[in-house]
Amino acid sequence: MLYDLIIRDALVIDGSDTPGFHADVAIHDGRIQRIGSLDDASAAEEINAAGRVLAPGFIDVHTHDDTVVIRQPDMLAKISQGVTTVIVGNCGISASPVSLKGAPPDPMNLLGAQQHFVYPRFRDYRNAVDEARPAVNVAALVGHTALRNNHMDDLFRSASPDEIAAMREQLRDSLEEGALGLSTGLAYASAFSAETTEVAQLAEELGAFGAVYTTHLRSEFEPVLEAMDEAFSIGRHARAPVIISHLKCAGAGNWGRSPQLLASLEKAAQSHPVGCDCYPYAASSSTLDLKQVTDAFRITITWSTPHPEQSGRDLQEIAADWQLPLIDAARQLQPAGAVYYGMDEQDVERILSHPLSMIGSDGLPEDPFPHPRLWGAFPRVLGHFSRDKGLFPLHRAVHKMTGLSAARFGLHERGLIREGFHADLVLFDAERVIDIADFKQPKRAAAGIDAVWVNGHLSYADGQARGERQGRFLPRSGSLREGFR
Ligand code: ZN
Ligand code: CU
Repeated sequence: MLYDLIIRDALVIDGSDTPGFHADVAIHDGRIQRIGSLDDASAAEEINAAGRVLAPGFIDVHTHDDTVVIRQPDMLAKISQGVTTVIVGNCGISASPVSLKGAPPDPMNLLGAQQHFVYPRFRDYRNAVDEARPAVNVAALVGHTALRNNHMDDLFRSASPDEIAAMREQLRDSLEEGALGLSTGLAYASAFSAETTEVAQLAEELGAFGAVYTTHLRSEFEPVLEAMDEAFSIGRHARAPVIISHLKCAGAGNWGRSPQLLASLEKAAQSHPVGCDCYPYAASSSTLDLKQVTDAFRITITWSTPHPEQSGRDLQEIAADWQLPLIDAARQLQPAGAVYYGMDEQDVERILSHPLSMIGSDGLPEDPFPHPRLWGAFPRVLGHFSRDKGLFPLHRAVHKMTGLSAARFGLHERGLIREGFHADLVLFDAERVIDIADFKQPKRAAAGIDAVWVNGHLSYADGQARGERQGRFLPRSGSLREGFR
């Protein structure tokens, strides 16, 4: 037969955590049709991929791209890294189901301004994604903080039984419409007052759907182990897999504790499906939080509503200019965003290397001066951590961003190079792949990503978007338990 495309002589790293092999890969009707030595076959288009790696398109399991996939559907920050699917709705904040009464509360403001929240039902969001047809596939979690904001007049208390019932109904409706699960952002003031039982009752909806519970822990600072225990207890109670978001040891007093965190994760994994995601940097980024203001490490301001001219400057410098203590300068900058250089490199490397961790960028696309993870997370794992530092072999790096991720989140027939699977693919040069975005110039495309196919169509090559955008909304498909060891 005549295929649409044959990629010839690539080193195929198929996402299953096994070493690469040389093969030709034939694609037809958006699917991978054949893998092997295809000398007998021909295609409308053939590509010589000798000397390069063909991998499944990367899955960014931790994003805040909720409204950007619709408003700026070219998604260049992601597709230029080889990402072909983004999971939105993390950290308790999602664009749907949302009915705002006023401005979005912190940190929902990370997703856009009030006028961008126009999806009162999950179904409305799903339809809007399919209509916008972004360059990458989109799957979505429902945010706990978003649900709270829909049903509570005051976010600084725990929800009443009636409010919990209303949130559950909205969550159930969303799960029926294909949501992947529930996310929380319990460290943020807008969710911190929620008692464990509030979250556990919501999470009870997940089990029937095989849906997942993901959480930005109640603390990433000293009480991080207690926060992990809370997350595991919620997951066990709800019979739902648990994914800890951007697992880290935050704050100078917490450095060096990653072995304890990972031991706790391993222990929980013995009796319940658990995992985590992480981004490959020793600096975090979010809204500017007064509780995190310190002189123990550098803090850079990325945006400020009252002082947009300070974007990209260090809080220390701004405070010195204004002759104010750090905390007062921070107060004057709010609402604002920040990069916190608050992690230890060794902790980052340990968590990144752990078999239970997946890669998620946590990039903030609305930020005028974003943390470089938005444009660089995936190539940084491949180039800096796997190749240059030798932290783990390339096939392990690929697995953490493809096969493992698809299995954990229940993304059916994605994340592996297998006959019959959707043809989300990335061709890259293992010698050259590297992140170019840094903290000074954060909006730069990575090097070494030669071509990206989404649903069988070439979507990015030679530094540019190609063809028509081919992403789809991906509903939850099948039980997630299969994805856990
Ligand atoms: Zn978070
Ligand atoms: Cu996040």
